[in-house]
Amino acid sequence: MAEDIAKAVARRRTFAIIAHPDAGKTTLTEKLLLFGGAIQLAGEVKAKKDKIQTRSDWMKIERERGISVVTSVMTFEYGDNVFNLLDTPGHEDFADDTYRTLSAVDSAVMVIDAARGIEPRTLKLFEVCRMRDIPIVTFVNKMDRDARDTFEILDEIEQKLALDTAPITWPIGQGKTFAGTYHLAENAVRRGDDEKERTPVHGPDSNRAAGLLPDNDRPAFIEELELAREACRPFDLEAFRQGHLTPVYFGSALRNYGVRDLIEALGAYGPSPRAQEADSRKVEATEEKMTSFVFKIQANMDPNHRDRIAFVRVCSGTLQRGMKAKLVRTGKPISLSAPQFFFARSRITADEAYAGDVVGIPNHGTLRIGDTLTEGEEILFRGVPNFAPEILRRVRLGDAMKAKKLKEALQQMAEEGVVQLFQPEDGSPAIVGVVGALQIDVLKERLNVEYTLPVDFEVARFSVCRWIDADDKADLHRFIESHRGDIARDLDDDPVFLAQHEFSLNYEAERWKAIRFAAVKDYQVRDKAA
Ligand code: G4P
Repeated sequence: MAEDIAKAVARRRTFAIIAHPDAGKTTLTEKLLLFGGAIQLAGEVKAKKDKIQTRSDWMKIERERGISVVTSVMTFEYGDNVFNLLDTPGHEDFADDTYRTLSAVDSAVMVIDAARGIEPRTLKLFEVCRMRDIPIVTFVNKMDRDARDTFEILDEIEQKLALDTAPITWPIGQGKTFAGTYHLAENAVRRGDDEKERTPVHGPDSNRAAGLLPDNDRPAFIEELELAREACRPFDLEAFRQGHLTPVYFGSALRNYGVRDLIEALGAYGPSPRAQEADSRKVEATEEKMTSFVFKIQANMDPNHRDRIAFVRVCSGTLQRGMKAKLVRTGKPISLSAPQFFFARSRITADEAYAGDVVGIPNHGTLRIGDTLTEGEEILFRGVPNFAPEILRRVRLGDAMKAKKLKEALQQMAEEGVVQLFQPEDGSPAIVGVVGALQIDVLKERLNVEYTLPVDFEVARFSVCRWIDADDKADLHRFIESHRGDIARDLDDDPVFLAQHEFSLNYEAERWKAIRFAAVKDYQVRDKAA
């Protein structure tokens, strides 16, 4: 049993793709799934972007705006490995969703457009990965177009991200002459992803690789390779695993170059599911007892059943269909009768899942983001963050008779992580908070479509929200007492301070040194009643 778990864990690679919009994340995802045999035809992920996501009405928003709001997971196999690819929303208004998803991966692929280099969103997402020490594999995409000089690209990664680079492959040509990738350590060539294996080039000279290029380009390519061998850092597995160095691969997701190189890299170097930090101890992936946490809730996956799926990352042991788990927040048991695995187009019942796997657990509101499930142990996983909202609104309801229904609907959506909900201490109407403006649109659309609650939003007089705490609870109590009109409670009953602007926050922070004002809160909380 223990051995089975160890074997299963060793095979697994759970990762996400981070990229600036348009760098090629969707195309690459599609090709990873294609080569992993998860989909039959390229084009399905795109089709999914265009069609399948129309499955529920509220997603009209993303269709109209051509953005992907939904985070989902796709599983595929390649060689001996099982890959779990966690997809993240492309739009930055859903950044909190992306950050939560990054709490559930062990590594990330950073896709860079070869002509554009490091773009703002790449940088931001990279910083989140760095905060969590997530190792990063770099894929320089669109080499079939005019690209920057290869050394220049490597240099930019080093400079802008303060991250060492080790090119593992080198592009053979670029733009119209792009003819494949050259593996520097193996001295072997792959002319495209149609070739399952690389062809060794005998001896250190690269003439056979250069032979793929037009005559005029050959000498420069040979010179470049020599320079690369001399000047570039060799790959160092330890430094990669610690997040200090990124192996770099080149290719074209659209034209099928370099994708196999990348999958093989994840298989060979990508970390298997790592130990997860819980409040009282670290949980090893190979432990026998099942532990897992919820990092995402998705409503309306299927309009026929108004279901709500909790995406759970298994951290240790075996999650088995039919098992009873303990929901640590409430202390109550929960029956995992129909856990599901997700593929590009379908979902199937999951009989067994191991550390690194992500399963969907259908439920009617029992599970919340950040929840920990165990076989009985009282532990809580850390690291599914809650970000202080940047936009605060009061919900205005036309029909006062529906106030109770509105309260329930908001509560549900807050539990899904769509919005955050704050109940002012002075009894005034609830305030909703979001990180990005589009989330407000999603909220409005869903309240209308799912709950027939047409609402409007009023600008609240607050624009800043911080969780407050203090070592000495008497200090906290005093602060709350003297700021009653500016205090509200979140879903967990934790107090927040609402300020009109940053200035008033700084002013209070100066005056009340004992109070901590936090812009990020971990979800890991026990029910106050429990
Ligand atoms: P995203 O998910 O990161 O936003 O990027 P996506 O894959 O949608 O790719 C953005 C555009 O870049 C698409 O073109 C796609 O075809 C193109 N692309 C992706 N990879 C490559 C590549 O390796 N080489 C080249 N030349 N182009 C690439 P589009 O015209 O916006 O969309 P479409 O109409 O072609 O679907």
